[in-house]
Amino acid sequence: MDKTHLVDEITGHRRMRRNRKADWTRRMVQENRLTVDDLIWPIFIVPGTGIVDPIKAMPGVNRMSIDMAVEAVKEAADLGIPAIATFPDIEMNLRDETGSQSLVADNLINQATRAIKKAVPNIGIITDVALDPFTSHGHDGILREGIIVNDETVDQVVLAAIMQADAGADIIAPSEMMDGRIGAIRRGLDASGHQDVGIMSYATKFSSGFYGPYREAINTSGLLKGDKNSYYISPANATEALRDAALDVEEGADMMMVKPGLAYLDICWRLKEAFGLPTFAYQVSGEYTQIKAAAMNGWIDGDRVMMETLLCFKRAGCDGILTYFAVDVARKLAKSA
Ligand code: PBG
Repeated sequence: MDKTHLVDEITGHRRMRRNRKADWTRRMVQENRLTVDDLIWPIFIVPGTGIVDPIKAMPGVNRMSIDMAVEAVKEAADLGIPAIATFPDIEMNLRDETGSQSLVADNLINQATRAIKKAVPNIGIITDVALDPFTSHGHDGILREGIIVNDETVDQVVLAAIMQADAGADIIAPSEMMDGRIGAIRRGLDASGHQDVGIMSYATKFSSGFYGPYREAINTSGLLKGDKNSYYISPANATEALRDAALDVEEGADMMMVKPGLAYLDICWRLKEAFGLPTFAYQVSGEYTQIKAAAMNGWIDGDRVMMETLLCFKRAGCDGILTYFAVDVARKLAKSA
């Protein structure tokens, strides 16, 4: 017997490193895995044709006209990405106090849905009904005397949701955090023959600084008056987030989302545990940009951190992730398969 070591008495026969000793043991004991089925790709749509316009605050992400988006979504579908989420950046002169463009049946987002559905029928289309891309003040609802009015906004998003479903949206994802919206949208969809259109609730959407680059992407940052603290959840509150999510479940949400993602992994875990619904995290624009910016400076290994963050969402109980990295990741996974 060799010399005894100080740790011998402590470790005894218990050695965690046995399972970590080789690539094959590590693969054998791996608990969570990221696959292409976990990815939802958010994209930005602009009017016009032939446009691929880089977003400064989101290196590698572009605003695309519908024709270009169709091509990009074809690639995403070929890679096996199950769904996309679309966001419009519409002309400034079409934005007004009530976001009336949201109620135009052939608006930019519904045109995009029709075109993508026709060209790429095998990818799911998730559309948001928040009014912020359509309002002249950048808020998610109707603004009256400094207040985002709840019930009137709900009436409007229900109509917008029906039009989006008419255009071919598969899942409606309401992100505007008005009270009662999930139940109202469910009733509206059912009454208009859209029983099979699902609802992915942005059940817990926090009032976050991580949304900055998104607001540049759809040009709302210059418009936004004040903040969204009267309708989004405070980053300080978890119990309140659970109560809010419970209402959405009761009202008929099919799936739910936590937004932002990485700083809110405790919420992902608690929602999944509490309700057992399919639960998704949105790795939002600011999270994407942080990784990109550090990688571009050579300060972190961007690819490695991208994969690590996405795996962490899985570990936290998420069934999938909305991420601007979706296509990069899908390509990487396809190569290593
Ligand atoms: C608003 C909305 C936001 C995002 C998508 N829809 C937040 C906001 O602007 O307040 C953020 C997405 C991201 O940051 O990637 N309805």
